[in-house]
Amino acid sequence: MKILLLGKNGQVGWELQRSLAPLGEVLALDRHSTDMCGDLSQPERLAQTVRDWRPAVIVNAAAHTAVDKAESEPDLARCLNATAPAALAQAAADIGAWLVHYSTDYVFNGQGEQPWQEDDATGPLSVYGQTKLEGEQHIVASGCKHLVFRTSWVYAARGGNFAKTMLRLAAERERLTVIDDQHGAPTGADLIADVTAHAIRQATVKPAPDLSGIYHLVASGVTSWHGYASHVIAQARALQPANALKVSEIAPVPTSAFPTPARRPLNSRLSTRKLQQALGLVLPPWQSGVDRMLRETL
Ligand SMILES: NC(=O)c1ccc[n+]([C@@H]2O[C@H](COP(=O)([O-])OP(=O)(O)OC[C@H]3O[C@@H](n4cnc5c(N)ncnc54)[C@H](OP(=O)(O)O)[C@@H]3O)[C@@H](O)[C@H]2O)c1
Repeated sequence: MKILLLGKNGQVGWELQRSLAPLGEVLALDRHSTDMCGDLSQPERLAQTVRDWRPAVIVNAAAHTAVDKAESEPDLARCLNATAPAALAQAAADIGAWLVHYSTDYVFNGQGEQPWQEDDATGPLSVYGQTKLEGEQHIVASGCKHLVFRTSWVYAARGGNFAKTMLRLAAERERLTVIDDQHGAPTGADLIADVTAHAIRQATVKPAPDLSGIYHLVASGVTSWHGYASHVIAQARALQPANALKVSEIAPVPTSAFPTPARRPLNSRLSTRKLQQALGLVLPPWQSGVDRMLRETL
């Protein structure tokens, strides 16, 4: 099976290089690839890559993910998050390929406390959320076979992440202030990549079950950024008692304490029942992935 992977060096893309490898021949591109175009800012050339290489599956892990920056460059965000996925979807439909794509909890307005279902009304608060929603809509409208995974609060062992930032600050300061009115599930890029591989395997089995659709893909459980930071610091202390962290207080603060160009949803809880039932998979608690990442990186 030929699989075209876009965004190979992002958090999720890097893990997909590992998880997709046993499924077949993977052509992994990024925006700098020269032999074939993997640049989302060039949607027509991207579609040509699909038509030329004719993969059975396209996995698009690339996106404009700089949520605050997107507010000041909406045209670029729309090109990467909506126009390019639309071109990929049309090319996928033309050659009968599956398109696997990632979206976000930011398509919702964050009201209430109930976990969002896949078919709940959307209401993005930011350019990022709006353009990601448009990307989803273009893919569905194209009629291509698709798996769109909405995820949230993604972290990876490789590169910077929220947990590492908290640990650096905890070593430098006695008091930290962390937002406690946004709720969601920290989700490892490794989990997203592994579930993606399982889903592709199931979707491409012949005769294929009709798995086409939008799914929520997050670790189970829920926390706030404050709960996440507190867990990370407690775990770091347990794992490395000799490495004293300076912090003695982790103060919960509202979102308004950290004004940002883009508004974030307060309720990012995503129900994963649809995915767990359709794929027969279990999504582990968010703490297990975070603890594993800490053991790898500390
Ligand atoms: N991160 C989160 O918390 C989060 C939450 C919800 C949903 N998601 C979604 O999950 C997916 C994966 O996100 P992630 O966390 O892996 O993001 P990431 O680490 O920021 O990776 C995004 C990748 O897109 C690439 N990219 C940017 N502009 C490009 C272009 N013009 N052409 C080709 N590639 C380009 C980046 O390349 P460079 O390294 O060269 O810039 C980067 O490798 C995205 O669809 C995102 O919207 C993420």
